Amino acid sequence: MSATPLLEHLRGLIRAGGPLTVEHYMEVALWHPQWGYYATHSPVGARGDFVTAPEISQVFGELIGLWLADLWQRSGAPDPVIVCELGPGKGTLMADLLRAAATVPAFRRAIRVHLVEASTTLRAVQADALHAATPTWHESLMTVPANPLLLVANEFLDALPIRQFKCQADGWHERCVGLDARGDLTFVHGPKLSVENLAAWPAGSVAEHRPAARTLARDLGRRLAQHGGAALFIDYGYFPPAPGDTLQAVVRHQRHAPLRDPGAADLTAHVDFADFTAAAAAAGARTWGPISQARFLKALGIDVRVRRLAAGKDAQQQAQIESGCRRLLDETQMGTLFKALALTGRDAPTPAGFD
Ligand SMILES: C[S@@+](CC[C@H](N)C(=O)[O-])C[C@H]1O[C@@H](n2cnc3c(N)ncnc32)[C@H](O)[C@@H]1O
Repeated sequence: MSATPLLEHLRGLIRAGGPLTVEHYMEVALWHPQWGYYATHSPVGARGDFVTAPEISQVFGELIGLWLADLWQRSGAPDPVIVCELGPGKGTLMADLLRAAATVPAFRRAIRVHLVEASTTLRAVQADALHAATPTWHESLMTVPANPLLLVANEFLDALPIRQFKCQADGWHERCVGLDARGDLTFVHGPKLSVENLAAWPAGSVAEHRPAARTLARDLGRRLAQHGGAALFIDYGYFPPAPGDTLQAVVRHQRHAPLRDPGAADLTAHVDFADFTAAAAAAGARTWGPISQARFLKALGIDVRVRRLAAGKDAQQQAQIESGCRRLLDETQMGTLFKALALTGRDAPTPAGFD
């Protein structure tokens, strides 16, 4: 491992305080204010490290905009209404959904755009992409005003740090990041856990918890129960719960070892949809799904929309539009692994695609 300043910083933390939890490692590697991944990279897009659905096809954001417009109309058309995005990346999803929302002018007029974004680099990109929508930025959902809320989040939950636990012969241990004899980062067994509510997976299993996602689900569940509205999460993950180490790193669209090059690689892990849904439901929200991304987008009419977008374009553009659509729907690509989950207040109508 070449000794970057962030690696030296991590070594110092481990030498001073012992191995770090995986959660702490992810927080430092992603969010260190000077050397963390999000402080030093603009990761999304063909020239970044990974490509997301809104960057693949404008149809993705447009269908979500129509989904929101339909729900807004059937929920009594509250005016004003907050449209909030968690982790907006380059602002593409919000730009596409607002363009589609404008087909219902009263909805577009009622919208106040709020963005929850922790990366200052990406806030600058979003400010460029969305200046006409005059967004308000937040560090977290806590400061978003308590009005009726329509919230979207694509590939946000997978970026929140996870804790990992390994089932040993004597019980569950926290999985931690320590140093080997050469001073390289390596996974080590942390302390045995006395009070953890972990399922009875076989010995050797790895289980994962995402405390920040639980807190978000609880806060959002309370807010939707009290003030009404809906939230749509699209992410990759599993349902029902399953054991397994899903921590992964990506550099320039290639898989990378998660402990190699901290600060230079994006780190994510699969979303446990059952856990997130249970926390939101316990806080008072109604939960819908998860269903596969392919099923969700097909229910919203992606085939018709893609045909309309391709009409009149030249052969190369048509091929590009169609291949983007296939990437979103194909079960070997994003169609099945990615899932859509909706949360609503108790009195909200059934969100389109979830009946
Ligand atoms: C994987 S990118 C997804 C970007 C975008 N939603 C898309 O689909 O292209 C994750 C986004 O969430 C933001 N993010 C990650 N963790 C965050 C946190 N704890 N608070 C606020 N924003 C966060 C990142 O800066 C980035 O904008």
